[in-house]
Amino acid sequence: MSTRPTILVFDSGLGGLTVQREIAKARPGARYVYVADDAFFPYGQHSEQALIGRVVPLMGELIAAHRPDLVVIACNTASTIVLSHLRAAYTVPFVGTVPAIKPACAGSITKRVSVLGTSGTVKREYTQTLIREFGGGCIVTLVGSANLASLAEAALSSGRDMADADIFNEIAPCFVQDAAGARTDTVVLACTHYPLLLDELTRLAPWPVAWIDPAPAIARRVVDLIGAQQPGVMHNDSVLLYTSGKRHAWPETLAPFFGGRVAA
Ligand code: DGL
Repeated sequence: MSTRPTILVFDSGLGGLTVQREIAKARPGARYVYVADDAFFPYGQHSEQALIGRVVPLMGELIAAHRPDLVVIACNTASTIVLSHLRAAYTVPFVGTVPAIKPACAGSITKRVSVLGTSGTVKREYTQTLIREFGGGCIVTLVGSANLASLAEAALSSGRDMADADIFNEIAPCFVQDAAGARTDTVVLACTHYPLLLDELTRLAPWPVAWIDPAPAIARRVVDLIGAQQPGVMHNDSVLLYTSGKRHAWPETLAPFFGGRVAA
C-alpha cells in the first residue's frame, strides 16, 4: 500500500458525498477520486440489468484510469445489485453501501422501522434478505421514493432550497402509527443522497425519529482495509469527476466533503 493511497468513491451523483465526507474525516492523507455517474442519473429509475450493464464496464475504465487502492460504491441502488458482479470482475477491494437495517432494528424501541430508499433499492432481494436476517421482530415498512434523490441532487447542484411540500410527500409514508398507538421511531436512510437533506427531513418529520445513516460505519471499514494515515501525509489532491464531463459551478461548496480543497 502506498503512503498516500488512492480511494475512488463512486455514486450516481452527489449523494455519495455524504459517505465521502465521513471517509475524509476518518482517513486524511489519501488521494480521493470522486466519480458521479450523472450521465446515467438517477440509478433508481433503471432496471437491474441496465445497472449491471452500465456500472461493471464503467468501473473497469475508472480502475484503469485512476489505479485506486480501494473503491467505495457510495450508492445503495448500485451496491445492492452490482457489488457481487464488480467483485467477480476486478481484484481491487470494494466497500459497498447497503441499507442499515441491522442497527436500525436493533435500536428501535417501538419495533417499527421504515426503510427509505430508491424504488430500486426497496425492491431488491438483497434488502428483503437483510430484513429476514436482521429484522429482529420489527415491523419494517419499505418506502420507495421516486423523487427524493433528485431533490437532494438539485439542492446541492444549484445551492437552492427545495420546496418543503415536495420533500414531505416523499417521506410521509415512513411515518406509520397503528391502532394501538405504536409508531415508527427509526428511519433508515437507504440512499446516500438523503443525508444531504437531513435538516429538512428532521424539520418536516411529523414526529421525531432516529435517522440511520451508515456513512460513519462505511468510513470505519475503509480505514480497516486501507490502514491509518501516515505521519505528515496530507490529502490535497482530491478530484470530483462527472461522467457527463460537466464542471461543478461552485466547487468551493464541495470542499467540506473532502476535508479541504477539491478540483471539480
Ligand atoms: N445515491 C444513490 C443511492 O444511494 C441513488 C440515487 C439514484 O441515483 O437514484 O441509492
